[in-house]
Amino acid sequence: MTVDLDYLKDVLGRTRAEVAKVIIGQDAVVDRALIAILTNNHALIEGVPGVAKTLLVRTLALVLGCDFARIQFTPDLMPSDITGTNVFNLQQNAFTLLKGPIFTTFLLADEINRAPAKTQSALLQAMQERCVTIDRESYALSPNFTVFATQNPIEYEGTYPLPEAQKDRFMLKVNMACPERDDELTLARRMLGSDSPEETLASGAVQPVLTPVELERIREGFRAVTVREELLAYMVDIVRATRMRDSILVGAGPRATQGLLLASRVTAVLDGRDFVTPDDVKEIASAVLTHRLVLRPEYEIEGLTVPEVVQDLLREVAVPR
Ligand SMILES: Nc1ncnc2c1ncn2[C@@H]1O[C@H](COP(=O)(O)OP(=O)(O)OP(=O)(O)O)[C@@H](O)[C@H]1O
Ligand SMILES: [Mg+2]
Repeated sequence: MTVDLDYLKDVLGRTRAEVAKVIIGQDAVVDRALIAILTNNHALIEGVPGVAKTLLVRTLALVLGCDFARIQFTPDLMPSDITGTNVFNLQQNAFTLLKGPIFTTFLLADEINRAPAKTQSALLQAMQERCVTIDRESYALSPNFTVFATQNPIEYEGTYPLPEAQKDRFMLKVNMACPERDDELTLARRMLGSDSPEETLASGAVQPVLTPVELERIREGFRAVTVREELLAYMVDIVRATRMRDSILVGAGPRATQGLLLASRVTAVLDGRDFVTPDDVKEIASAVLTHRLVLRPEYEIEGLTVPEVVQDLLREVAVPR
C-alpha cells in the first residue's frame, strides 16, 4: 500500500463522511479526535453529559475498523479491573490470564478523575508503553491503542484530578460543547423518525473505511507534509512562551512541542494541503496547550482563564511570514 497525500486526503474525507452519518455537527471535535488517533496519541474529552462523547468514540472505532471498550472509573476501581488478573484454572491446573477491558484498541476511560491515583496510573503506563504488566508478565497492546478519557467539567466533588505529569501524556484536550441550534433541531427530528444517531450506528449504514493494519500504515504518510524551519521555530517559541509568563505557574514541557508539530501536520492534510501554515499551528495550539498549563492562584482569583492566556500568547509570539 502506498501512502501518498492524495490517498490520505481521500481516507480522511471518507472517514469524516461516515462519522457524520452518526455525529451531527461537532466537526472540530471529530477532527481533533482524528488528530489524536492519526498521530498515535491519546485525547482528553471534556463536555457536559449527553453531548455524545461515548457515541463519538464508538463511531470512530467502527469507521476506523478498531475494537472499542469503555471503562467507567469509580473510587473503588482497582488497577486489576483495568488490566486483568491471573486466575487459577482447575481443569488445566494452571493460572490463566483473564484479560481486562484495556485489551482493546479504542478505550473510553469515562470520568477518569473518579478513580484514585494508583488506578489512573495503570492506565497511564499502558498509554505510554502500549503494553501492560500483570503479575510481572508484560503483554503488548494493539499498536493503535488509543485512550479517550473524559472528565466531567462540573462535578469536582469526590474526584482525584489528574496530576499535571499525567495530563501531559494526553496530546490534546477536546472540548465538546452543546450542539448549535440547527444541529440540535436535526437531532430532535431524527429522534422522531427511525434514523436517530444510535439507530444509524446500529443499522449497518456506517461502513469501515480502514482496517487496523491500514490505520497503522497511513500514519507514515504524514511525514510527507512539509514543515518549514521557521514554522518549527514558531512552535518552539509558542511553547517556550508558556514558561515565561507571569500568570502561569506551570508551563508546557517538550511533549507539547512534539504534540504541536504532529498535530499541525494532520491539520494541514485535513485542510487538503501538503504543507503546514501558521494558521494550522494557531488552530491546534489551544487544544494542545490548555490542559498542560496551570495558572498562578492570584491570577485565577482575578478571573483569568487558561484559554485566555493561550490566546494572548498566540497574539504576541511573532508569526513567521
Ligand atoms: N452531536 C450529536 N450527534 C449525534 N447525536 C447526539 C449529538 N449530541 C447528542 N446526541 C445524542 O445524545 C445521546 C447521548 O450521547 P452519549 O451517551 O454519547 O453522551 P455522553 O456525552 O457520553 O454522555 P455522558 O457524559 O452522560 O456519558 C446520543 O445517543 C445521541 O442520541
Ligand atoms: Mg458517555
